[in-house]
Amino acid sequence: MKTKNKSLFSKLCKCYSKKDIPRRCENTDTDNENEADFVENLVHPNPTTEIRDACKDLVLSDDQLQLVMQRLTDEINRGLSRETHDDAIVKCFTTYVQDLPNGTEKGNFLALDLGGTNFRVLLITLDRQNFDMKSKIYAIPQSLMLGTGTQLFDHIAQCLALFVKDLNMQHEVLPLGFTFSFPLSQHGLTKGNLVRWTKGFNCSGVIGEDVVALLEDAINRRNDVKIDVCGILNDTTGTLMSCAWKNRNCRIGLIVGTGSNACYVEKTKNVQCAIPGNYAEHKPYMLINTEWGAFGENDTLDFIITEFDRAIDENSINPSKQLFEKMISGMYMGELARLVLEKLVNAGLLFGGKFPSDLRKRGKFFTKYVSEIENDPKGRYTNCREILAELGLRNVSDQDCENVRYVCSLVSRRAAHLSSAGIAALLNKMGEDNVTVGIDGSVYRFHPHFHDLMTAKISELQSYKFDLMLSEDGSGRGAALVAAVASQKR
Ligand code: GLC
Repeated sequence: MKTKNKSLFSKLCKCYSKKDIPRRCENTDTDNENEADFVENLVHPNPTTEIRDACKDLVLSDDQLQLVMQRLTDEINRGLSRETHDDAIVKCFTTYVQDLPNGTEKGNFLALDLGGTNFRVLLITLDRQNFDMKSKIYAIPQSLMLGTGTQLFDHIAQCLALFVKDLNMQHEVLPLGFTFSFPLSQHGLTKGNLVRWTKGFNCSGVIGEDVVALLEDAINRRNDVKIDVCGILNDTTGTLMSCAWKNRNCRIGLIVGTGSNACYVEKTKNVQCAIPGNYAEHKPYMLINTEWGAFGENDTLDFIITEFDRAIDENSINPSKQLFEKMISGMYMGELARLVLEKLVNAGLLFGGKFPSDLRKRGKFFTKYVSEIENDPKGRYTNCREILAELGLRNVSDQDCENVRYVCSLVSRRAAHLSSAGIAALLNKMGEDNVTVGIDGSVYRFHPHFHDLMTAKISELQSYKFDLMLSEDGSGRGAALVAAVASQKR
């Protein structure tokens, strides 16, 4: 366990570029650490009693997590059932993906990946177990996230056309998989109506519309490239498909990034909400996009929701929506930590009551700070001090730094434990041993302990054997695989 922690940590250090998290790798010399202390101390900081007391609502007991599991299971069953699907909170959307990749997928596929802060266009070449990828990332400015749907889809089509022309492939009809990571009510593999925007997007004129048609219209308006949209999918589905391509045991896809959501393999006979005639009833399985981010919207999570969660929700662009997601994902994690720290300074428990100037400002405590601060080895506060200086406070005591780290660890630990409760509920529901969970998303990738926290907690909450596997580029490769599986059948 200890060795695993350490090697995982060194691996994480290696795979992040300095550009992503500049502080992370510079200050950590794990080889000089006593290994046991290294793991123990990072996971269990030592804050003052007053601080522990002020933050106690953020600590979830196993009993509370078991109740979360039970309620989530009830909500999932409501989502799957035809009678309750329309009113269900956790929708459990049918993906119409019924085949996992079998390793024979071949060809050139385009993929679009929209759903976080960036938008990506990819060309993926699959040749049995070999895979090659060219991709380009385009920023999505806030003005586009909050503009009109036409502007958004014109931008997507423009990026796509530039990409294809750059590769000089504009004369070929290319099959395309579209990873669109928002709740879609799907009627088939190439038809999905947007149910709601999440994660800071709010483009007008898209809710209720078929997103594939909007993309095709935008491409036709340009009339300079030829595309055949073969499938639309969620990032969780992409992650599951991408991991299943490498590991046949992969049955769950999880995202803990800007948002949080999970997808899993359900028995077709249990998917009563699927539209008859639009899927193969004889096939044993169907991938289900749970959209668990919405869990809690009907008060079911009130027993664990804190004053900080309420403040996050009230100041969001989608109040009273996506409550589970707001307790877990990267879009909110930094702000949650900031709100806790603000409360502690106001109570005179931190920094002698003196505010770093930027700590009062919403959004100024970035989610990456949580990972960076928790990455300082015990007894050293290099990252923490650098961050506090950025926020406007220098000469901070070790005890203050310890307390700041404690707050960060509480927020990230709660997120890991809630995600674990979700996965444990799915494992129980599936009732199988040796399920691999494919995981992607910035929080899971960049937080130094998320993987270990989840492994430990899932083992405590349920008894099936499982594995957590980092997905390598789930959204892109998964989109190509869905397009490949679909185009093979045409
Ligand atoms: C949000 C979206 C969901 C997506 C998740 C992770 O919860 O609604 O579709 O899978 O974020 O990106």
